Amino acid sequence: MQDLFDKIKKNMGEIGRYSKESHGYFTFPKLEGDISPRMVFRGRERLNWSLNNYLGLANHPEVRKADADAGAKYGFAMPMGARMMSGNTNLHEQLERELAAFVHKEDSILVNFGYQAMASAIDALVDRHDVIVYDAESHACILDGVRLHMGKRFVYTHNDMTSCEKQLQRAEKLVSDTGGSILVITEGVFGMSGNQGKLKEIVELKKKYNFRLFVDDAHGLGTMGKTGAGTGEEQGCQDGIDIYFGTFAKSFAMIGGFIASNEEVVTFLRYNMRSQIYAKSLPLPLVAGALKRMELIRNHPEFKTKLWEITNALQGGLKKAGFNIGTTTTPVTPVFLNGTVNEATNITFDLREKYNIFCSIVVYPVIPKGQIILRLIPTAVHTLEDVKYTVEAFSAVKDKLASGEYAKGGFAQVQG
Ligand SMILES: Cc1ncc(COP(=O)(O)O)c(C=O)c1O
Repeated sequence: MQDLFDKIKKNMGEIGRYSKESHGYFTFPKLEGDISPRMVFRGRERLNWSLNNYLGLANHPEVRKADADAGAKYGFAMPMGARMMSGNTNLHEQLERELAAFVHKEDSILVNFGYQAMASAIDALVDRHDVIVYDAESHACILDGVRLHMGKRFVYTHNDMTSCEKQLQRAEKLVSDTGGSILVITEGVFGMSGNQGKLKEIVELKKKYNFRLFVDDAHGLGTMGKTGAGTGEEQGCQDGIDIYFGTFAKSFAMIGGFIASNEEVVTFLRYNMRSQIYAKSLPLPLVAGALKRMELIRNHPEFKTKLWEITNALQGGLKKAGFNIGTTTTPVTPVFLNGTVNEATNITFDLREKYNIFCSIVVYPVIPKGQIILRLIPTAVHTLEDVKYTVEAFSAVKDKLASGEYAKGGFAQVQG
């Protein structure tokens, strides 16, 4: 037997074990100033490509004013209690109606945190007789929801419809014994690769198999589809998505989210999602702030147009400069490089300190050893000059990586 704290001390976890070297620089960096493409990191302004402020709403004057006014008017305590008990308001209900209409569903339920809500909704929807079929590259919140599930779960190879069909066949066989149902879960936009989930193909499979489809469209809401209604709209299959999840953490540049579906399912979720029944309702300033954002998104399609102009310029520029950006078809822009974790830290250091570019970096153990992903998130408030500068800086970095210049040093120089 060992003391729990001794165990933790010996094993701080996959990422936590690097905390001493990385804290404050690679992990938990502090970006200061108004949220925009130019923010201060370690006392100096950097060109920032790391925030999911897709439509540039975070610092939009109308948004800032609405947030401030609502804060002053309501305070952050209001309403108190869970929605079911004492935390319901007309504004909560209005926002739910507007969100549902925006994503072409009958009704929606507001949630406080997207992550918690995804896991909790999955928990509420299925019981031990049911089977979950889900994409292997699903976000952690889906995986946690699946972990709560008491019945069987079958995972299919990322976006591989043959594999998905195989798992559906296994699931059908199983539920024919248990009398249960099948829930398929995937993402609209995969946040690391920028791949779209194959929603249209999955919806097509409904002709052969009896299941319901739950889509986490955290990155697709506001960025994809003609009106920004998401990846289902983009692929022409929004109706085939039975349960739609959107977060306020990205395009809405806020916190909270919603789950939309038909009226009965939303009512079921209202009365059965433990994370909402047993937790305080979203404070009114956030609800009022989300209503303002919804209004702006509906009335200003040019935000999305600008986002895509920057996205296309960035992705086109990187490809032209010989970069591998994988198979993205969305604003999420991964740049794939080969190198060690040490080289990755040196690249990031160089990008931040020499070129003043701040972007996210992903290395082992999140992805296989030897791979490096630099992830860029274009937004409607970046400029074409930002894109040009970044592609040139990345090209210089690529040359240095090829010449072995990043093979030495590492964490040490960050600390120095
Ligand atoms: C695909 C996906 N689902 C869910 C979430 C969680 O949403 P939230 O930040 O609202 O908890 C995220 C990250 O924000 C995400 O990228």
